[in-house]
Amino acid sequence: MSHESEPLLAVPELLSDSVRILGLDEQDLPAIQRIEQVAHLYPWSDRVFNDCIRSGYFLDGAFSGPRLLGFSVVMPILDEWHVLNLCVDPSVQRRGVGRSLLEFVIDQAKQSGMDSLWLEVRVGNTAARQLYAAYAFEQVGFRKGYYPAKNGREDALVLMRELKPAAAL
Ligand SMILES: CC(C)(COP(=O)(O)OP(=O)(O)OC[C@H]1O[C@@H](n2cnc3c(N)ncnc32)[C@H](O)[C@@H]1OP(=O)(O)O)[C@@H](O)C(=O)NCCC(=O)NCCS
Repeated sequence: MSHESEPLLAVPELLSDSVRILGLDEQDLPAIQRIEQVAHLYPWSDRVFNDCIRSGYFLDGAFSGPRLLGFSVVMPILDEWHVLNLCVDPSVQRRGVGRSLLEFVIDQAKQSGMDSLWLEVRVGNTAARQLYAAYAFEQVGFRKGYYPAKNGREDALVLMRELKPAAAL
């Protein structure tokens, strides 16, 4: 699916009601990369995104009109889904887009009968850690020096969210 990227379009102040989540493909890579390059210290290359698409991973985008605001990349493994990337355009962060994407992923995983959602997060990524904590992700592991960092390496927390029917969203 091809979507325009129009960085200058006005975005409503509160996004939660107006954001639409749509599937992404190769044609969306320029818009994805425009966000990836400015949001992550160590952004993925096009090759990584292409590998994800070729491997059948799920790429979904949050849109306001035709403008891509953020995206998620999810790798399915048997009865688990792994969130490999969750990324929001810095110009619209803290306006509910990350929340919308994560709720979408949780919802889709539940509807697909998954048992759990997994991800890794930098120890120092306060924004992401707060977001995941708000959705009942719990630490189940620790990977020392997992990520590249400005001064050496940074540790990762492994987080998991149960998706059993009794678990709250
Ligand atoms: C993490 C990220 C996806 C959050 O997206 P976002 O659209 O800004 O998040 P939301 O506006 O939906 O915020 C939802 C909740 O997350 C937490 N949060 C988000 N940004 C935060 C910040 N800068 N500081 C503290 N908590 C934050 C809050 O609990 C927030 O709820 P609140 O606004 O009601 O307090 C975004 O910061 C991002 O893209 N970061 C760079 C890429 C990245 O690190 N991705 C995660 C990889 S594991």
